[in-house]
Amino acid sequence: MTDKSPVLFERLGGAAAIANYVQEMYQRVLADPDLASFFADSSMDRVKKMQYHFLASAFDGPADYSGAELTKIHADRGITAKHFAKFCGHFADVLEEHQVAARDIDDALGRLAMFKDKVTGDSNIGG
Ligand code: HEM
Repeated sequence: MTDKSPVLFERLGGAAAIANYVQEMYQRVLADPDLASFFADSSMDRVKKMQYHFLASAFDGPADYSGAELTKIHADRGITAKHFAKFCGHFADVLEEHQVAARDIDDALGRLAMFKDKVTGDSNIGG
């Protein structure tokens, strides 16, 4: 049989849908008083574009990410587990609002969770 279930990138709606989720996620992030200030000096056009390519690849879509390494870009910004959870929560809310299936939302959040240590720098804290 050649019956293959589509990869997460397709299940989330493909390129146009995911680019739109990224736009809407950053609208929420920039409206969140706990998160907005992190992005005060950033070029949001670049961040959104890079985030789209990063996520496309993380969701088994096209691997066209050409941005900075995740640990490096997030280091020394004071990003905590709480910030990370809120950030991911905004992404989940956007997917829910677009009626993405719960199973696919869980799958996407699972992929994001794999990057937590790189974003919060927890892997640099001895333990
Ligand atoms: C799974 C979660 C996350 C992923 C996959 C992610 C990914 C990325 C990517 C791909 C970029 C662009 C890199 C580049 O320009 O080359 C970026 C930039 C950035 N991220 Fe994240 N990020 C995540 C969570 C967060 C969180 C929770 C914060 C803070 C609350 C944050 C703050 C930033 C900032 C401030 C920039 C811009 C840095 C600059 O201006 O150069 N990120 N992130």
